[in-house]
Amino acid sequence: MAALRYAGLDDTDSEDELPPGWEERTTKDGWVYYANHTEEKTQWEHPKTGKRKRVAGDLPYGWEQETDENGQVFFVDHINKRTTYLDPRLAFTVDDNPTKPPTRQRYDSSTTAMDILQGRDFTGKVVVVTGANSGIGFETAKSFALHGAHVILACRNMARASEAVSRILEEWHKAKVEAMTLDLALLRSVQHFAEAFKAKNVALHVLVCNAAVFGLPWSLTKDGLETTFQVNHLGHFYLVQLLQDVLCHSAPARVVLVSSESHRFTDINDTSGNLDFSRLSPSQNDYWAMLAYNRSKLCNILFSNELHRRLSPRGVTSNAVHPGNVMYSSIHRSWWLWTLLFTLARPFTKSMQQGAATTVYCAAAPEMEGLGGMYFNNCCRCLPSAQAQSEETAQALWELSERLVQERLGSASG
Ligand SMILES: NC(=O)c1ccc[n+]([C@@H]2O[C@H](COP(=O)([O-])OP(=O)(O)OC[C@H]3O[C@@H](n4cnc5c(N)ncnc54)[C@H](OP(=O)(O)O)[C@@H]3O)[C@@H](O)[C@H]2O)c1
Repeated sequence: MAALRYAGLDDTDSEDELPPGWEERTTKDGWVYYANHTEEKTQWEHPKTGKRKRVAGDLPYGWEQETDENGQVFFVDHINKRTTYLDPRLAFTVDDNPTKPPTRQRYDSSTTAMDILQGRDFTGKVVVVTGANSGIGFETAKSFALHGAHVILACRNMARASEAVSRILEEWHKAKVEAMTLDLALLRSVQHFAEAFKAKNVALHVLVCNAAVFGLPWSLTKDGLETTFQVNHLGHFYLVQLLQDVLCHSAPARVVLVSSESHRFTDINDTSGNLDFSRLSPSQNDYWAMLAYNRSKLCNILFSNELHRRLSPRGVTSNAVHPGNVMYSSIHRSWWLWTLLFTLARPFTKSMQQGAATTVYCAAAPEMEGLGGMYFNNCCRCLPSAQAQSEETAQALWELSERLVQERLGSASG
C-alpha cells in the first residue's frame, strides 16, 4: 500500500467499488458516469469517492464501439464474438481533474479599507462622507484622502470635523481634505450643506451615507420627527435628493448607505403589510431605542435599493453595507451599558479600518462598476432580510420620505 502511494497509484479498486444497485458506464466520448438502478438516476461523480473519471487510451485490439436504438453505447468484441455494455477500458480510468478557476474570495473580514485602495489613484475624484469625524466614517474619508481623492467630511460639529481633517493632514500633508457642516437632524441644515457643496462647482463621484445615532433616549428633532429616524434615514434621503443632479452629471458615480445586520430584527409594515409611519417615527410611549435603530437601518437598505432602481439608468449606482459587529467606535456613547458591552466585545471585533473596508469596496472596487441594488458584508454580497428586499416597501418608503420632507419644510417656512 505504501509502495503504491509512493508510486502515486494508491487509488485502489476497493475505494472505487460501487455500492449495491450502482453501475459504471461510459459515454461515446469516454466520460464515465454512474447509474443508480434503485433510484433510476445517473450522475458524473463516483457515489463513494465523488471523483469524476474518464477512460484512458483506445479500445483493445478487435473491439469496436456502437450505439443501440436507445442511444446507449455498447461494445463489440469481434475476436470472441460477443457484445457488452461494459466499456473494457473501465479498468483503466483516470481522474478527471479539470483546472477549476480559483474560487478564493479576494477580501474577507480582516481586509482593511487601505488594502482595497492599495495602488489606486483617486486624484480628480470627489468623495463626500457623512459623519466622517469619527469611527468608520473617519477611516473611510482618510483612506480615500490618502489615495488622492478630494474628500469632504460632512459633519454636524465643526470643531470635531476640523480636528479630523488635521489628523488626516498629519498622515499626509498633501491630502485634499476639508470639512463642511451637515446636521442630518435638521432638514434646513441638509439644504444649506447641499447649496454650499453646489457652490463649489465640483463633481461628486462617491457619496457615503455613514452618519448615524444609536441607542438615544426618545427625542424629536426640530422638524418634529423621532431623531434616530431623521438622522439615520430621512436626513440622508433628503441629502441624496438634493445632490442627485450633481451625482448624475458626475456619472459613473456611486452611493453607499452604511446599514447594519440589525436591520433583520424588525418590521416597518403594519399587520396589513403597509408601511407604518408610527413605527418609523414612534411616539415616546412606543419608543425603544434599539428597535428605532434597527428600523432606521432597514430604511437604509430599502432606500439604497430604490435609489439604485431610479438612478442607475443615469449612471449612479447604490449599495448598502454592514460594516461589522459591535465595533468600538463612538456609537455606543449614549448609554453606559452599551459602552460596557462594546468594551467587552472590543478584543473580538473589527478595527475601524476593517470596518470601513466594505464601504470602500462598494465605493471604489473596479469590479463593482455599474453594480448596485445589493447588500454587502465583509466585501461579499449577501441577501438582506425579506422585507429589505421588498420593492413595494422601498417605493412606499421613498414616497413617504418625499412627503415628509415637503411637509416639514413647508411647515417650517410657513
Ligand atoms: N460600530 C458598529 O459596531 C456598527 C455596526 C453596524 C453598523 N454601524 C454603522 O456604521 C456607521 C458608522 O458608525 P460608527 O460605528 O463609526 O459610529 P460613530 O463613531 O458614532 O460615527 C457616527 C458619526 O455620525 C455622526 N452623526 C451623528 N449624528 C449626526 C447628525 N445629526 N448629523 C451629522 N452627523 C451625525 C457622528 O458625529 P458626532 O461625532 O458629532 O456625534 C459621527 O461622526 C453608522 O451608520 C452605524 O449605524 C456601526
